Amino acid sequence: MGTVARQTLLLILMFVVSGGLDHATANSPEAASAGVTMVDGIDMSKYHHYDDLLRLAETLKVQYPHLVDHYSVGKSVQGRELLVIRISENVAERSLTEPMFKFVANIHGDETVGRALMMFLAQYLVAQYGSNPRVTKLLNQTEIHLMPSMNPDGFEQAKVSFVV
Ligand SMILES: *[C@@H]1O[C@H](CO)[C@@H](O)[C@H](O)[C@H]1NC(C)=O
Repeated sequence: MGTVARQTLLLILMFVVSGGLDHATANSPEAASAGVTMVDGIDMSKYHHYDDLLRLAETLKVQYPHLVDHYSVGKSVQGRELLVIRISENVAERSLTEPMFKFVANIHGDETVGRALMMFLAQYLVAQYGSNPRVTKLLNQTEIHLMPSMNPDGFEQAKVSFVV
């Protein structure tokens, strides 16, 4: 099974094991002890709050300054930044013909899996650059904009339980 497929499967598993979105449950030791922790060096054991999201973007920018930058397209109703992580080889410069892709997740507050996938994808892309030819080629030839959360206010407020 491919790495991305494996990660997606693990995420679905994590979601089911944690009983859907309930921050208290998803971040609990039970979720971690279900065996879903580090995949390709990425911590997949829990959902991440707004502060974690900002921290991740800044950490990636500091660790991979040639690949990562981040910006905000504005603020939410409650004043949270609408963060976008930009990933590309030589991210500071863009040739006019370089295609741009934007991925937006978590448009509704309780749509949490896409948000988590965006955060994992950002980490995956930068970690694989230079060793994984497919990722290297992708970042060499495109400029990728990941917006993990269109609705950071909704995510912080969401409390949903699923019966599985
Ligand atoms: C990606 O770009 C770097 C820097 O320009 C270059 O050295 C490398 O060969 C490129 N790799 C691929 C797979 O395009």
